[in-house]
Amino acid sequence: MSLVVAKRLVKTYDTGEVKVEAVRGVDFSIEPASLVAFIGPSGSGKSTLLNMIGGLDSPTAGELQVAGQEITHLSRRDAARFRGEHIGFVFQDFNLLPVLTVFENVEYPLQMVQNWTKGRRKNRVQELLAAVGMADQGHKYPSQISGGQKQRVAVARALVTNAELVLADEPTANLDRETACRIIDLMKQMRDEFKTTFVFSTHDPRIVDNVDITFTLEDGSLLKHEQTGGGKHG
Ligand SMILES: Nc1ncnc2c1ncn2[C@@H]1O[C@H](COP(=O)(O)OP(=O)(O)OP(=O)(O)O)[C@@H](O)[C@H]1O
Ligand SMILES: [Mg+2]
Repeated sequence: MSLVVAKRLVKTYDTGEVKVEAVRGVDFSIEPASLVAFIGPSGSGKSTLLNMIGGLDSPTAGELQVAGQEITHLSRRDAARFRGEHIGFVFQDFNLLPVLTVFENVEYPLQMVQNWTKGRRKNRVQELLAAVGMADQGHKYPSQISGGQKQRVAVARALVTNAELVLADEPTANLDRETACRIIDLMKQMRDEFKTTFVFSTHDPRIVDNVDITFTLEDGSLLKHEQTGGGKHG
C-alpha cells in the first residue's frame, strides 16, 4: 500500500486581493521506505505540497491520504495528532530549541505525544543519537555544535517517535557540500535501517542524484516523474 496518495490535489491561497494557485491539481503516490525529491523553480509549490502532506496546511480541493488516513479535512487537533503519530520534520534552518540540550531536543517530541517513562525515553533518545553519530554530544547546546551536527540532531528528532514519513524542506540548503552529502547518506541509512520514507523539497543536485524518485513541479503542476534509482544502491 502506498504511504502517500494524492488525487487532483489543489491548494489556492486567497490573500484577499489575489488568489495564488500554489498547487493546481496534482496526482502522485509515494511508496514506503523510499527517498523522494520534489524539485522545481522557486514558487513552484514544493513547500506547499510538503506542508499539506505533513498536515500543516489543508488542501483546497482533491484528496490526500497519508499512512492509510484521509487527511484532507482534518480538524486542527486531529492534524496535530496525525503529525505526532506519523510525521517527522527536518527544516532548512534545523529548528532546534536553543535553550534545550541536544539530548532534550531529541527527547522533546516523545514528551509531546507519548507517556513513556523517563527511562524508556532516555534509551530511545540515546539509540537515535547513536544512530546519527552524536552519542557523546547529548549534553551540548545547539550553539556549541556545527551546522552538520545540528542537522544530524534534527534527523534524530524527526525519527525518535518512529515516524514512518519524514518531510524535509530543503534540508541541505545551509550545509556545505561535504556535510550535505553526509546528511543524505545518513538519511539513506535510516531508510534502510528503520524503513523510513523521506520526502524532500530541494534545489540541491546532490539530493536529486541520491533519491529513488524525483517529481518535478512547475507553476503548481507536476511536469515529470522520474525513477532516479540512486537511493537503493548508491
Ligand atoms: N501562506 C501563503 N500565502 C499566500 N501565498 C503563498 C503562501 N505560501 C506560498 N504561497 C505562494 O504559493 C506559491 C508556491 O509557494 P511555495 O512556497 O510552495 O514554493 P516553493 O516551490 O517551495 O519555492 P522555494 O523554492 O522558493 O521554497 C508561490 O507563488 C508562493 O508565493
Ligand atoms: Mg519552499
